[in-house]
Amino acid sequence: MTVASDEVRVRIASDDDIVTARQEGRRLSAGLGFSSTDLTLIATAISEVARNIRVFAGEGQVQIRPVHERGREGIVVVARDKGPGIADIERAMQDGYSTRGSFGLGLPGARRLMDEFDIRSRPGKGVTVTMKKWALGGG
Ligand SMILES: Nc1ncnc2c1ncn2[C@@H]1O[C@H](COP(=O)(O)OP(=O)(O)O)[C@@H](O)[C@H]1O
Ligand SMILES: [Mg+2]
Repeated sequence: MTVASDEVRVRIASDDDIVTARQEGRRLSAGLGFSSTDLTLIATAISEVARNIRVFAGEGQVQIRPVHERGREGIVVVARDKGPGIADIERAMQDGYSTRGSFGLGLPGARRLMDEFDIRSRPGKGVTVTMKKWALGGG
């Protein structure tokens, strides 16, 4: 784990790293005025994208940092891997779609838990998920 000023970067290469990313997300967000409910929602969204890195790509990283935009305070999470990527993103974002016979709620769930959600991928080029949540009713 690397901590540079207020940015945290967690390398995801084991299941313990998912827990670390989740905790770091909560810790960093706690200083930004989020409600305790929001802290749990953020931590859950981070868990889902970090778990996908483990399951589908094996390894990658989760970067978490505060964001200040037009008077708003929030948190931004960028989860990246260089795994197989996703051929059909629209399909992957649907509730219940899973290529591993699982619940298929991770990505759509994370999108609902956060205020902004962006996913980019190309087959063979990995996946980048960027998500933001604003504190104190912003967004
Ligand atoms: N980082 C990733 N790399 C490759 N494929 C992914 C990644 N994340 C998600 N996917 C694809 O999107 C599908 C939906 O993801 P998700 O909603 O988290 O459901 P689940 O993890 O239960 O399968 C996965 O089954 C997988 O095919
Ligand atoms: Mg998942």
